Amino acid sequence: MDSIKIFMCFTTLLFAYAQAATLAAESPPIILTPTPAPAPAPDYVNLTELLSVAGPFSTFLKYLQSTKVIETLQNQANNTDEGITLFVPKDKAFTSLKKPSLSNLTADQLKQLCLFHALPHYYSLSDFKNLSGAGPVNTLAGGQYTLNFTDTSGTVRIGSGWTNTKVSSSVHSTDPVAIYQVDWVLLPEAIFGTDIPPPAPAPAPVPDIAPVADAPEADGGKGKGKAASSSSPSSSDRIIGWSVWRCVLMVAVSVGFAVVLN
Ligand SMILES: *[C@@H]1O[C@H](CO)[C@@H](O)[C@H](O)[C@H]1NC(C)=O
Ligand SMILES: *[C@@H]1O[C@H](CO)[C@@H](O)[C@H](O)[C@H]1NC(C)=O
Ligand SMILES: *[C@@H]1O[C@H](CO)[C@@H](O)[C@H](O)[C@H]1NC(C)=O
Ligand SMILES: *[C@@H]1O[C@H](CO)[C@@H](O)[C@H](O)[C@H]1NC(C)=O
Ligand SMILES: *[C@@H]1O[C@H](CO)[C@@H](O)[C@H](O)[C@H]1NC(C)=O
Repeated sequence: MDSIKIFMCFTTLLFAYAQAATLAAESPPIILTPTPAPAPAPDYVNLTELLSVAGPFSTFLKYLQSTKVIETLQNQANNTDEGITLFVPKDKAFTSLKKPSLSNLTADQLKQLCLFHALPHYYSLSDFKNLSGAGPVNTLAGGQYTLNFTDTSGTVRIGSGWTNTKVSSSVHSTDPVAIYQVDWVLLPEAIFGTDIPPPAPAPAPVPDIAPVADAPEADGGKGKGKAASSSSPSSSDRIIGWSVWRCVLMVAVSVGFAVVLN
């Protein structure tokens, strides 16, 4: 009689353990701690990861990493209520940058240049209507490092004096993180001065994406970026997490039975 009870308990435990092990293998980040149901974690956007899969933005990412500005940006995204808006030039923007070039910049100037591409607030594409013509907007570089915005029927343009470029697509736009692709590197007057050559004969940049895709989505910034939305994986994580909790409960109940029966 006793041996049957023990056998039943043992098989129940084994089954529960196998189930838990399978689920744990599917989702390694689950940590089984005896806390009550975890509060849903806010969506965390890993900027390094996002910029390495989208784009190609590898040149800009390299600058962000060498100047350690990536940490400032990630911190702004993680730990502020304001969020962040980041303008990312594609690799092509750096290769077509001849004059002025970035090669003579000091480490500090390079850092400022990187910070100049970020606003200390989350703006959806439709929010730029508000900023349009409203005068200089502060960037994370602070001080004189400001950008001007214009929004002409949904086409957002950014002016820095040296640079007048448009937001060519939305890479990610979910509060608190907005990332928009721009055609040119944003060059601040605070570094390159105000002696800006007239733009007249400058060859127009060849659009590197189809003109249709060039127009920003008119959906108020909830644009489906090139990078996958980060909300689905986290909700499935939560479901797997709940299954694991059920398994833990089962194991606990069978252990309880074993104790009571003995
Ligand atoms: C962010 O992503 C990068 C590249 O995938 C990775 O090396 C890094 O560890 C991630 N950071 C965090 C905090 O998860
Ligand atoms: C941002 O949040 C992630 C996930 O919570 C964490 O791993 C990372 O270290 C944080 N980074 C910063 C700079 O706060
Ligand atoms: C940048 O440095 C090069 C030499 O490395 C020099 O020829 C050039 O004039 C410099 N440009 C500026 C804008 O200082
Ligand atoms: C847009 O502008 C209006 C009036 O200028 C202001 O009241 C509102 O708070 C602004 N909205 C945002 C999102 O900045
Ligand atoms: C930004 O706009 C203001 C007027 O609102 C103008 O005085 C300033 O020169 C502009 N700055 C740049 C860099 O275009």
